[in-house]
Amino acid sequence: MGYVGPRDAAPIIHQGLKRLEYRGYDSCGIATMDGGEVKIKKGAGMIDEVEKKLHLRELPGKTGIGHTRWATHGKVSEENAHPHTDCSGEIAIVHNGIISNYLELREGLSKRGHNFRSDTDTECIAHLIEEAYHGSLEEAVKAALGEVKGTYAVLAISRKEPGVILCARNESPLVLGLGEGEIFVGSDVASFLKFTREAVPLEDGEYALLTADGYVIKDLATGTEVKRGPIHLDWSDEMAEKEGYEHFMLKEISEQPSTIVGSLNVYPEYIDGLAARIGRVEKVYLAAAGTSLHAAMVAEYWFSQLCGKLVIAIDASELAGRGILDPKTLVVGITQSGETYDTLAAMKYAKGRGAEIAAVVNVVSSTATRLADHVVLQGSGIEISVCATKTFTSQLVILLRTALSLARSQGRDVEAVERELLKAPRYVDEVIRQKEGIKAVAERYFDTPNYLYIGKGINLPSALEGALKFKEITYHHAEGMSGGLLKHGTISLIDERVRTVALIPAEGENKTRLISNIQEVKARGGVVIGIASGGPVEQCDASIVTPSCLELISPLVFAPVYQLLAYYTAVGLGRNVDRPRALAKSVTVE
Ligand code: G6P
Repeated sequence: MGYVGPRDAAPIIHQGLKRLEYRGYDSCGIATMDGGEVKIKKGAGMIDEVEKKLHLRELPGKTGIGHTRWATHGKVSEENAHPHTDCSGEIAIVHNGIISNYLELREGLSKRGHNFRSDTDTECIAHLIEEAYHGSLEEAVKAALGEVKGTYAVLAISRKEPGVILCARNESPLVLGLGEGEIFVGSDVASFLKFTREAVPLEDGEYALLTADGYVIKDLATGTEVKRGPIHLDWSDEMAEKEGYEHFMLKEISEQPSTIVGSLNVYPEYIDGLAARIGRVEKVYLAAAGTSLHAAMVAEYWFSQLCGKLVIAIDASELAGRGILDPKTLVVGITQSGETYDTLAAMKYAKGRGAEIAAVVNVVSSTATRLADHVVLQGSGIEISVCATKTFTSQLVILLRTALSLARSQGRDVEAVERELLKAPRYVDEVIRQKEGIKAVAERYFDTPNYLYIGKGINLPSALEGALKFKEITYHHAEGMSGGLLKHGTISLIDERVRTVALIPAEGENKTRLISNIQEVKARGGVVIGIASGGPVEQCDASIVTPSCLELISPLVFAPVYQLLAYYTAVGLGRNVDRPRALAKSVTVE
């Protein structure tokens, strides 16, 4: 995050960093320029902890840069926290991404007498700028980045050029925010939404020179100026407040009845456009990571059952090895942030092989939206908690609507499913109203370190997502799988200390099969909690009953139950629910 303008920079940067904290939160720092000096405060810990100790906000100066870190190179420590400086302390930089040739650069720089104080890959950029500085920060940054291989969003200030920020991007997001006589720059728009809604994204291979009077964007390789005006954002900063909830996660879980409506209201043209592309091509991959991958996996069932179309959900980081890509292939990136490195890399790889690329994205003006040939914005609003909840159910709605659109275009009768989908907000609302009951189940049963989540058919991905939510925020081990797979090995883990969560549809073969699996678990002394559509299941030790609905819709209705189970268990354990250890909401490195 950076600021240049008439106001004190540090308090603005501090607020921006708080909004960006979901991207990383092991250490942080701010550098400002004041009275011909670069002043820095930084430390290990979350922003509030560091603020309490060091009073980052009190740094004087009208120009500044700041950073909140998710460690890649070098342990979590004050030395490794950003900003980093050159030998003289005249140049300060912050950086996201990974400099892949940093060992080589560092060796050369050390031999030439540069003194390194951190173990980071980042610090070498500051020394490279120092070496290349001959009176122009712009030229020095350009020259330094010419030496660097890897990914970066980088901001630099120099004592010699007060009132100037140089920034550049290569495969790590960076967006400018335009105010009246002031400029903001951040990793995403949330960092400056409080101050402006006019945003100008930078593209890969570009840099920008920022002053209070304006910005100039140029191509890093050629130096040619790039003219780009602002995009107006609909999001407001209030969306990023807790509004009385104890945690963002609970707020976001509770918002799902309305965010699902938001996704039901996304213009049909976008959905139909995606469906038409899927219908046209031979092969379709839904490339995604984490929770978004689970949404993609649910969609596989919708496309096969509703449209007879084989669509393959794939871990984005595996597409290059497993995918068969050609111009008759469509790769759809499913990504909340639109910035996940693995997903963007898969999309670029596919494009490079002549495949068409599309994206389902939440964050407006993110990289994925600019990369794809066709984009559907899922319309969930800002999600702050690191754990994805409302954006997951919105992805499901968009993907189901796409499958329904394709099915309709094939002349299939999908009216019953369409009608049921429209009831999803009501079903989800009924689930959320039962939150005290869900909390009681969590308090009574979720008291051991081992959990299994089982589902069948379209709820196999729900089991994976239920286990992922649980692991992410409780730090207890949870594994998701199909009920059928349990007997092929994992069942040997079952004893009275293992809790099994079963996702049981209202009726049908999958219900019968799951009940057999539940009995297999019970026979080995396991304790089973059913998330059961339409009524309790007597074979379970406890049932959380959700409204009876079509099995095809049930992944949407079950989601808030396992989200709340994870939430209340984590709260009971005293975990940092919104910022779980070691995670970041969007992982912009490989
Ligand atoms: C990170 C987050 C996950 C998220 C995944 C994909 O790993 O911790 O919660 O599901 O990235 O993020 P995306 O923004 O691409 O959906």
